[in-house]
Parts: sequence; C-alpha cells; structure tokens
Amino acid sequence: MTTSRTALIYANVILIIVCFLFSAAYAEEVNTIWLDELDLSKATCGWGQVNKNKSCQGNPLKINGVEYERGMGTHTPSTLILKLDGKVTRFTAIIGVDDEISEQPTSDRGSIDFKVVGDKKVLYTSGTIRGYQTPEKIDIDLTGVEELRLIADDIENNYYDHADWVMAKFEYTGKPPVTIDIPKPKPYILTPKPKPTPRITGPKVFGARPGNPFLFTVTATGQRPMKFKIKGLPKGLKLDSESGRITGTAKKRGEYKTTVTAQNSLGKAKRELRIVIGDTICLTPPMGWNSWNCWACSVTEKNVRDTAEAMVASGLINHGFSYINIDDCWMRKADSNDAAIGPPVRDETGMLLTNDRFGDMKALTDYIHSLGLKAGVCISPGPTTCAGYVGSWQHEEQDAKYFAEMGFDYLKYDWCGYSKVSGNEKLEDLQRPYILMGQILEESGRDIVYSLCQYGMGNVWEWGEAVGGNCWRTTGDIVDNWGSMSGIGFSQADHWPYAKLGSWNDPDMLVVGKVGWGPNLHDSRLTADEQYTHISLWCLLSAPLLIGCPIEQLDDFTMNLLTNDEVLEVNQDPLGRQAKRIVKTDDVQVWYKDMEDGSKAIGLFNVNDYDEKTIGVKFEDLGLKGESHRVRDLWRQKDLGEFDGLFNAEVPVHGVKLIRVW
Ligand code: GLA
Repeated sequence: MTTSRTALIYANVILIIVCFLFSAAYAEEVNTIWLDELDLSKATCGWGQVNKNKSCQGNPLKINGVEYERGMGTHTPSTLILKLDGKVTRFTAIIGVDDEISEQPTSDRGSIDFKVVGDKKVLYTSGTIRGYQTPEKIDIDLTGVEELRLIADDIENNYYDHADWVMAKFEYTGKPPVTIDIPKPKPYILTPKPKPTPRITGPKVFGARPGNPFLFTVTATGQRPMKFKIKGLPKGLKLDSESGRITGTAKKRGEYKTTVTAQNSLGKAKRELRIVIGDTICLTPPMGWNSWNCWACSVTEKNVRDTAEAMVASGLINHGFSYINIDDCWMRKADSNDAAIGPPVRDETGMLLTNDRFGDMKALTDYIHSLGLKAGVCISPGPTTCAGYVGSWQHEEQDAKYFAEMGFDYLKYDWCGYSKVSGNEKLEDLQRPYILMGQILEESGRDIVYSLCQYGMGNVWEWGEAVGGNCWRTTGDIVDNWGSMSGIGFSQADHWPYAKLGSWNDPDMLVVGKVGWGPNLHDSRLTADEQYTHISLWCLLSAPLLIGCPIEQLDDFTMNLLTNDEVLEVNQDPLGRQAKRIVKTDDVQVWYKDMEDGSKAIGLFNVNDYDEKTIGVKFEDLGLKGESHRVRDLWRQKDLGEFDGLFNAEVPVHGVKLIRVW
C-alpha cells in the first residue's frame, strides 16, 4: 500500500514536471510592439507628413486636450499596410483628430473615418470622427489575419483631417508585424505610337480678345518636316507654315471657321479650327506643365527652361500641351505682413523682384514663346504666398502690369496668405481679391488665362466665371496616392453645370511621372491602373491638364499616358461639357461625357481595393437612341465592335475602361 502510494505520488510529480516542460516548450510567449516602432514611411498621407510620435504637422500628439507620448500622426487619405503572419493576436489604439486644428471653425475640424481592414474584411470602422470629440478606443482580435490595413479616410472634404493613431500597439506570438509598400505592379503601355502620317491634334476651338497679341500653335503628330496651311484666318493674323504658329492681332470680333491642313511626304490631314475673337479666352481646358508637384520651392529658371525644351524635343507639344507655368517661389521671400510694401522684396518703385534662382523673366518668357509655347506664373492676392514669398496685396495693378509686360499668358492666383487680410471670410471677402484681379487682367492688353486657386472655398464654381476666372480649383492640394487622387477626382460629380467653354472646374494638377514637391523626386506612387484612371477622369471632367513632373525626365510609360490623342480629345472636346456620374456604388462608378459629334465618352471605373470587377453600362441610360452602337476602346485606340443595348467590361483594381460610343 505504502509502496503503491509512493509510486503514485512519484508518477504525479513526474507528470506535472513533464506537463510543465511541455507547455514551456510549446506555449508561445506574447510579445508587444508599438506601431511607432515600425517603419511608418510606408504609410500614405494626404497632407503634411506621416510622423512617429508627432502629428502630421510635427506637433506633440494631442486629442481633446490629452497629450499622448506615442503613436502615428497622419492626414486623410492615409493607408498603412502591414504583413502579419497570422500570429499577431491583438491591436489596440486610441484614435482621433489632432488638436492642432483648433484654430479652424468648428465646422472645419476634420471628418475622418478610421478603418481597420484585415484580409479585405472591415474589422473596425469609426464612423465620422471630428476634432474635439472624445477619442475612441480600438481593441481588435487579429488572430489568423495575414494582411492588415490601417486606413484614415475623409468623409466630407479633406480639410484639417489630422488623423492620430495613438498608444497603438500589437500583441503577437510569432514574428512581429512589418509594414510594407502599397503594392505597385509594373506599369504597362496601352496605346500604340502615333502614326507617321499627319494627324491634327489640340483644341478645335480657340478664343482671343480683339486687339491683343494672338498666339496659337496648330499641333499635329506625324513625321517632320511638315507644312501647315490655313484658310479663313481673321484679318491681322498669319500662320507660319513651318511651325504651325499663328500670330498677329485680330481686331474684328466674330467667329471664324478656318480649315487647317498639315502635310508631310506621307500624307495630308485636314480639320476645322474655330477661332473666336471676343471676350472669352481659354475655350478648352488649358494643357501644359506646372512646376509645383515636382520642384515646389526648389524650382529654378533652369528647371523651367529644361522642361520647355523637353516639351518640344519629346514631341509632347505636338499633342496640344502648351503652357509652361511657374508656380510659387520665383519671387523673393517675405517674412512679415508688410512684405508687400517695398525693398528688399520689391524694388524702390514697388515692382516685383525675382529671387536668385531666376533671372530676367522677360528673357525667359521670350524663350518659351520662341519654342511655340506659352508662359504662366503664380502669386497670391495676400501679402505672402503659401510658401512665404511676396504676394500682390496692395500691388495688384502694378503686378498685373508686370505680368503682362513680362509676357505671361497665365496667372494662378493662390489665396493662401490672403487669409491674413481677408476679414471674416464671408462670401464677399472670398470674392474680393478675385474680382479685383479679374478686372485688372481683362484690361491688361494681354490674353492672360485667369486661374483661381482658393481650394473651392465659398463654392467657387458658382461664381468663378462671374469674377472673370477661366478655371478654379475645387479642392485642396493633390498628392500622388490613390486616396488623394480618387478622393479629389470622384468628388467632382456635382460641379458639371458650371463647366463650359472658358470656364473650367480644376481638381488640381497631375501627379504622374516624377513628383516630389522639392529637389528630391520619386516616381508617382500611383499604380499604372490608377494613372489611367487619373488621366481618364481628368479628361472626362474637362479639367486643366497640367503635368506636374519634369518633362525632361519622362519615362516611356508616362509619355504614352500623356500622348493618347483620342483620350486628350475627350478633354479638349469643343462642346465643353463636364462628365456626369450615373453609377456610384462602393465598388464601381460610371461617368459619361457628351461630345460635340453626338457620341459619348464613358469611363467605367473600378474603385474596389482588392478585386477586378465587371462593369456595365446601358446605352439607354446615356440617352443613346437605337439598338446597336459602335464602341471604341480609347486607351487602346481600337474598335471593339457593335454592341446591342449594353456594354460590359472587366476592369482591374483602381483601373478604368475608357470608351467612346457612337
Ligand atoms: C497652394 C496651392 C498649390 C501651390 C502652393 C504654392 O498650396 O494649392 O497648388 O500653388 O500653394 O505655395
């Protein structure tokens, strides 16, 4: 008995020891890692920058009065992708809008949806979170999840969405989570190269004011040398048959139907060009380049000259791109509110001075003009620009005169520093500086395209035309990620009634090619499909097409993307309509634009983040009568055949099928 009891006790003790050793060997330890210990540079961010333990503006993280030591500060739209190995078990965090937006009126204090998505499934969504709201706590079981996305999306408009994920950490048993780049498949080219036979491109309608210097270049693709001819030019104008440049001064108002021909050794092309001598200029959306999205404040005169030369050498000019626009930072830096008054930012007479990165502006615009291009410039109606350079405040007449004398053809008038002097920002305050400059420009003796840039405040689309604007920014600044580009592009649906010849909604400049907002450039973070979407959507929207990358650094993909004449024709269509949206779900959108010849340009967009989609459009929903319709794929420049009643296409993630239907 004693022996067997002792044996039993021994057996139990051994069993306990074995169990202990076994569990010690196999039970994995739970570790913790903070979000801010991971590489946050992989996150996208719609404004400012993604910061470790700081807000997107670089201040300590603070939500509703409480400061937090750790976390990630970002701005909508923002996505961070993490690879988990299925062994990350838990994510906890506190989310909210950073208090640094406190100076904004309550209505502008952000509207953010924080989302946590695991393997394509939404695990958490905050709904609308605004500034000064009690922060929300997140606690999510992640067991088994392989891929996780932390997303901050904008709900109403992307202003002041300073999105903080604070005290955010993961528990894991295997390897710690790692952040990864947003997948970017290799770009692919869709469009065949232009044929060597002549094809006339660019606008089919052009407006100029009577008595002002006239400059328009008839553009065509095809082998050089090429000879241009024109019939029916208004008196006072002449065409240079080698370059296609029309110059001179037309005095008599009227609409002139001219016929342009372009001929080379392989053939001849003919097209009508309507020249309208009257009060309205910029009859089709401006196409060209702007320095901001690439060089921002590091821009130099050399950058501008290099781009202008490359515009010609690369052949982009032959597709209708014509403006070379210098954005902010060409003038002198001003550091006080009375910067507008005089030296050292202006000369003794109050005239603007360039900074040491720029020389003689007239010589620069002369050079740009000599290439058959046009020149643009940017300034703020306030004492200073966004970047702190001198603005036109209290010098409006003098500056407009300067721009005209320097030979500029385009003025971007960027609100920014004006908020220091604007008063209450009631509608009349928002309009005041734009009315003033609009009147001055009209009498400047030059056809200067007037581009309003005040980010859509006061529903500018409702009054931009009345103050003399040719285009007006409808949103804040774009950056090169899907959230930003698609957020801006797809939010234009209600603006179509305000677009017409000479008046265009402007959803900001293009983010293709190399961008960077400073001396260090990177390839646009948009995937190839996202870039096809970007250009298709901007063309459907009749938006200005201002390339934001150095033209001398264009790669084959970007060159191909920017030179599809059938796509550009959608943008430049002389009917001047903006596309309307007829389908919008979480996954797909369908937009269509009425074209002058009665056809419709249609974009079938897949906005789903993970899966290819089949998207269809019924012809009767576009007002197309009759059964059968010819459909052409515009990116591939290929007829797809006759279709009865309906057209369906498979569309890749974030991609588009752009078709034209007759
Ligand atoms: C604002 C505009 C930009 C650019 C910068 C220059 O942000 O929206 O397009 O002009 O100012 O400072």
